[in-house]
Amino acid sequence: MSVVTVDVVPAYDVVVAPGALHEIGSVLRSFRRVAIVSQAEIADRYADAVRSDIDADVEVFLMGDGEEAKTFATLEDLCRRFAAWGLLRGDVVVALGGGVVGDTAGFAAAAYHRGIAVLQVPTTLLAMVDAAIGGKTAVNLPEGKNLVGAFHQPIGVLADTDTLASLPEQEYRSGLGEVAKYALLGDVVEDPSGLVELLRLHTTAVLARDPAVLGDLVTRCVRIKADVIALDPEERTGIRATLNLGHTLAHALETAGGYGLTHGEAVAIGLAFAGALAGGCERVGADVVDRYQAVPASLGLPTEVPGGEDLRADALLELMRRDKKASGGLTFVLPGPHGIERVDDPPEPALRYALTSVGIGE
Ligand code: GLY
Repeated sequence: MSVVTVDVVPAYDVVVAPGALHEIGSVLRSFRRVAIVSQAEIADRYADAVRSDIDADVEVFLMGDGEEAKTFATLEDLCRRFAAWGLLRGDVVVALGGGVVGDTAGFAAAAYHRGIAVLQVPTTLLAMVDAAIGGKTAVNLPEGKNLVGAFHQPIGVLADTDTLASLPEQEYRSGLGEVAKYALLGDVVEDPSGLVELLRLHTTAVLARDPAVLGDLVTRCVRIKADVIALDPEERTGIRATLNLGHTLAHALETAGGYGLTHGEAVAIGLAFAGALAGGCERVGADVVDRYQAVPASLGLPTEVPGGEDLRADALLELMRRDKKASGGLTFVLPGPHGIERVDDPPEPALRYALTSVGIGE
């Protein structure tokens, strides 16, 4: 078992282990009432075990599947059912599931009684390495994803790597896109995270979800995220924004839609793009450009947009300008001589070169 402490106020632990789910009883021992928010399929699989481990009143509150369930309507429905059940300020919400559950249940906990405790119990790779850590919670609006939310740090995170065995292949691969991001974020000369090396030495085991490497894989990603969160918990200084490496193009591809890409696949293409753009801006040499392509590719992820020649660079540039993290112009997170940092409005020729390099038409 590994425990990574996220050093915010108050600090909390991320427990990564096979069977970590069963730590829930000891984590929640001081609570009187526990509201588990989950989805039908996940609850069928884990809710009974979780319930029997908790020595308190427990109720399971189901919500729908997919981003389309991450709405104000779901938030209202959850909060009303919490109230009908009698959930009070000193009680706790458990978010049992992937990013959709974590974001929605986390936001419900942030708002209910002006904020009650939430324990994140992620059951997808994406949520274990990213969404469940760092306290970002939100619901979607028709106008955009995650437009209304709050920072609400959990009291803890239980990442049970056994739950990854039953994850659909597409969802596991989607998580690998974020793993590739952490590998590149942690790829620093002075204090390397070892993720690039782990992925190089154990590619087959990672792809096969070998329990012998999963714990190490998730823990290394979590350490990187925890370090970033501790430096900039509420994304005020630009440090936390580096977690959006590869995401500017990824969000635009997801918004453009119709390419059948998962979030992680879109991030993988976004990483290759970020490397090419950094190279085109002469911020890094060819070795770094190659690594930004090779790391996602080694995980079987795409580094070119399938059918991208039908996409126009101008349309993608427009979508990227509308990215909610952009401040008027075009904003990217790129490697460079001072490490990974935010770069505003890179030169147009470098942008067009990088878009072409990931298969997007001129
Ligand atoms: N997923 C990016 C962040 O947590 O800041």
